[in-house]
Amino acid sequence: MQTYIIAIILWCSGVYAKNEIYDGHILYEITVQNVEQTRLVTELEELLHVSVFTHAVPGRSGQVLVSKERRGHFETKLSAEGIEYKVIVENIKDVIDLEERLLTEATSRSNNRTRNGGVTFDRIYTYEEIDAYLEELQTLYPETVTLVNAGNSVEGRAIKYIRVSTTNFQDSSKPVVFIESLLHAREWITLPATLYAIHRLVIDVTEEDLLQDIDWIILPIVNPDGYVFTHVENRFWRKNRAPSTLCPGVDLNRNFDINWGEASSNIACMETFHGPEPFSEPETSIVRDIKLAHSNRLELFLDIHSFGSMILYGYGNGTLPSNGLILHLVGVEMATAINAVKASFNPDYIVGNVALVLYQASGSAQDYAQAIGSLSYTYELPGYRFGIGGLGFLVDPDFIEQAGMETWEGIKVGARYARDNYRHKHKSGLTFSAMIISHVIIISHDEFKPDKFTWNLSECFT
Ligand SMILES: *[C@@H]1O[C@H](CO)[C@@H](O)[C@H](O)[C@H]1NC(C)=O
Ligand SMILES: *[C@@H]1O[C@H](CO)[C@@H](O)[C@H](O)[C@H]1NC(C)=O
Ligand SMILES: [Zn+2]
Repeated sequence: MQTYIIAIILWCSGVYAKNEIYDGHILYEITVQNVEQTRLVTELEELLHVSVFTHAVPGRSGQVLVSKERRGHFETKLSAEGIEYKVIVENIKDVIDLEERLLTEATSRSNNRTRNGGVTFDRIYTYEEIDAYLEELQTLYPETVTLVNAGNSVEGRAIKYIRVSTTNFQDSSKPVVFIESLLHAREWITLPATLYAIHRLVIDVTEEDLLQDIDWIILPIVNPDGYVFTHVENRFWRKNRAPSTLCPGVDLNRNFDINWGEASSNIACMETFHGPEPFSEPETSIVRDIKLAHSNRLELFLDIHSFGSMILYGYGNGTLPSNGLILHLVGVEMATAINAVKASFNPDYIVGNVALVLYQASGSAQDYAQAIGSLSYTYELPGYRFGIGGLGFLVDPDFIEQAGMETWEGIKVGARYARDNYRHKHKSGLTFSAMIISHVIIISHDEFKPDKFTWNLSECFT
């Protein structure tokens, strides 16, 4: 009996102890008036070691996490520059603890599997659980699912993806659509989005045409080491776990060989550290190899991130690709489909070039796929609020199914466009684009209001 109680106590303190590192950290909302102020806030990251969750840009506030010790210094700096701020959360640890408690309760209530072997959308699954799930899927659905072990992460965890195809990827008249999530470790809400797509394509098929007409690649956990680290050590870890004497980790979304190093950090301790060289990391090399293996029919690539309710396209330096108009129009169609079913407490999606909507960023997974000829997007899923201010990286279990469902609405639209365009290209040598422009442009008219500013920011945190 006594051992039992001690075990419980140890277990409880073990579960919550990891959040101690955030005790007393304050989450601020920052409002800037101009691009100069945006730059100043970014500089504080290096100067004061504060953690910028989302950048403030004129017209859209940002979030910065600051330790107790640096609070005074931070507020003094902002006041001196005339930058507005307000405290959203006095102690972020309380909210991480709350998330942990809600997710733990949700997990203990969960059945974990539906009748036909799917995962449920009432909890967040661990790396080990997803690994086991993907293995099970191949066994349960051998006609459509092939499991591929693409290689190992820095710490030796298997990075596995599934191929979903009615013709085992042998029919080259079908386009390939590739979706991945958790390139950034802390963005937990993105996992249900890829799991939901798997659910709709394999287990509970509602869109038979998408299953028949497309070869799918779905990679739920690109960054397993970082993901495990967010569960056991540090909830807000973003990078992978590449070893380094001072600061471990490379920002995988700055490590691709596309404009590498132009708008990212060369300082290992920064959140946007681009690594020693392009594709220095096994995680990004694996994604590159998947893209190159299918480059002739990779029609659509979706990199699922959080947060901000955005659909972004390249290039990260602000130059539009030659298919920029189509990228925008299809982006708007996807966003419109999501907006139609989104949770009312979240804002409408914004669509635009990443450098116009957010800031310049180089070496991204999205730009790499764009450069090899796919339609390529970064989704920033919504932040969900717990009723206590914007806390985009933390997950309320009540939002998990909604996140999966609404994102799937966008994916469906993008995938159908990819299919139709691919068919048309192969029939006539022309793109299908012109045919849809006339009706899409009406929707895009009101949606596309990119702010007219450019600047040279090197950081991106979502
Ligand atoms: C679901 O998985 C969790 C975590 O492994 C476990 O605690 C829970 O008992 C499982 N639920 C069922 C019904 O097996
Ligand atoms: C931006 O990047 C793209 C892709 O690498 C390149 O074609 C373009 O010239 C770049 N634009 C600028 C202004 O450097
Ligand atoms: Zn991200």
